[in-house]
Amino acid sequence: MTMKTLLLASALLAGLFGSLAAAPAPPAPSTYNAFCRTQWLFASPCAQINTTIVMQIQAMSPQYELVSVIADAIKANHTSVDGLQAETLTFFFSSTVMIGGCRVTAMSTSLGFTSILDNGLNYCNLYNLLSASGLTSSPGFMEMTNEWACLSYGLATCRV
Ligand SMILES: *[C@@H]1O[C@H](CO)[C@@H](O)[C@H](O)[C@H]1NC(C)=O
Ligand SMILES: *[C@@H]1O[C@H](CO)[C@@H](O)[C@H](O)[C@H]1NC(C)=O
Repeated sequence: MTMKTLLLASALLAGLFGSLAAAPAPPAPSTYNAFCRTQWLFASPCAQINTTIVMQIQAMSPQYELVSVIADAIKANHTSVDGLQAETLTFFFSSTVMIGGCRVTAMSTSLGFTSILDNGLNYCNLYNLLSASGLTSSPGFMEMTNEWACLSYGLATCRV
């Protein structure tokens, strides 16, 4: 490098770091709601899967409460045994391209829970329901998620 380019480079760097230093601090994180979003595939029609999930939510009352059932979505609440934590659950149903299959997008979100560590609570809210209903051993069952979409996924050990 010539002296000229070197000077130019250092001027640019100084400007860069100078402007970074002058930049306002990022805003404090607002209330973070822990959540888990996962997708399930089944080789059975949605009409069967959605009925099974609705029945399982009802069977696990009062920990799970059905909020609403509309054409392609189910909403429910979950409350921990100690009553201190509450989460909202939603399930969206769509038929797969493969005839007779069903894709479920399930989501659990903590209400008023500000820690990013939920110990797999939101994942287990969804998984326990599925496992208790026997759907985890239904034909073609597959789960697709990762730790970005679903907090503590892979670390969570769920107890039904
Ligand atoms: C289940 O899915 C079928 C077919 O899409 C729909 O007609 C029915 O309303 C749904 N039932 C529930 C309980 O979600
Ligand atoms: C579900 O939770 C929401 C938010 O806390 C609450 O407003 C609603 O009354 C609950 N519904 C049922 C059926 O428990």
